[in-house]
Amino acid sequence: MLAGRRIVLGITGGVAAYKSAHLARLLVQAGAAVRTVLTDSAHHFLGPATLAGITGTAPERDFWGEASPAPHLDLARWADAVCIAPATAATMSRLAQGLSEDLLSAVVLATRAPVLVAPAMHSEMWSHPATQRNLAALLADGVIIVGPASGPLAGGDVGPGRMAEPEEVFAALEQALGGGALAGWRVLVTAGGTREPVDPVRYLGNRSSGKMGHAVAEEAAARGAAVTLITAAEPPEIPGLEVVRVETAEEMARAVWGRAEACDVAVLAAAVADFRPARPAATKLRRADGPPALALEPTPDILAGVAALAHRPFLVGFAAETGPAEGAVAKAASKGVDLLVANDVTAAGSGFGTETNQVALILPDGTVEAWECLPKRRVAARLWERIAELRSRGTR
Ligand SMILES: Cc1cc2nc3c(=O)[nH]c(=O)nc-3n(C[C@H](O)[C@H](O)[C@H](O)COP(=O)(O)O)c2cc1C
Repeated sequence: MLAGRRIVLGITGGVAAYKSAHLARLLVQAGAAVRTVLTDSAHHFLGPATLAGITGTAPERDFWGEASPAPHLDLARWADAVCIAPATAATMSRLAQGLSEDLLSAVVLATRAPVLVAPAMHSEMWSHPATQRNLAALLADGVIIVGPASGPLAGGDVGPGRMAEPEEVFAALEQALGGGALAGWRVLVTAGGTREPVDPVRYLGNRSSGKMGHAVAEEAAARGAAVTLITAAEPPEIPGLEVVRVETAEEMARAVWGRAEACDVAVLAAAVADFRPARPAATKLRRADGPPALALEPTPDILAGVAALAHRPFLVGFAAETGPAEGAVAKAASKGVDLLVANDVTAAGSGFGTETNQVALILPDGTVEAWECLPKRRVAARLWERIAELRSRGTR
């Protein structure tokens, strides 16, 4: 259920830091993307190479690396959740006071994502009134506290203060992210613009970047669906997806039609060519031979093909329009889709290659829901919420 989710794992200076390597491994195995932040003290307990080996990314330590001018903001905005395990008494104190002099506490102050803290310390430190005050302040700020457990502590002592087991922290993260809303769903998503060969080096294409479809796939995976992404664009590195690369409308049609009946939902967000050269040249066309006469023929209608399947999934089409969404209403009715997402690709901040999109949803009864301009990932999130609502009321 954490597949595709982005977790910042903060590690502080206690012996229980050895457990965070296991936690990082559990997260990576679940398909989450994990970036780690170590406090200076944590480096005495856990080697950066171990974490880099597990997560594929070197841990962050301070503000002053070359990679980013403001790593605390990058990490804070990137994160779907920030999890500090183990959290020392010192770190809890910093967080409770809103201090931000080290990278980890600055990330916590800057993020709007859920923050989980798994305290670990000796019983005396845990039960000290100062720590308990800090605990109360963190709870009041909405921080999720996991553990601590009572049991054997470092140095042979026994008592409360032992860090919760990695599996427990993992489960708390799953719960915090409300993941799994689409658990058990099999989802197919298409993305990118198809390329139709003119000759071995040239093609007829379009301006689609694939970003919208990729965001739809990523969001579905993050919500627990099993996702197949069929894309004609360079796929992003999204953990936990089955990715099928295609180039032409014909290849995309075969890939979609072969899989759609096994899916619960198909979101066809690719920009598929309507026409292709009828007879692509076998060898490169030469300037010396003059401009070729390019006869075109229709490509397979992928959407119509899915709509005609005996056991068809809940079907969502995308329509790139160059005018108001109302123009897509007729298309929604004629294509037999359960939902059509229309976007005016000529509007500012909308359409090909942009990070945002302004879409209108067209329901089967012709109702048009116009949404404000939103980041594509947010459009994807709202789209899945809407699909879940519609499916809960319908038969598919
Ligand atoms: C061997 C050893 C083990 C420690 N274990 C803990 C611990 O479990 N919990 C804790 O709060 N502090 C522990 N400390 C103290 C912290 O490392 C110290 O307070 C440090 O300043 C914490 O910094 P940080 O929160 O920035 O990582 C330990 C120190 C040593 C030397």
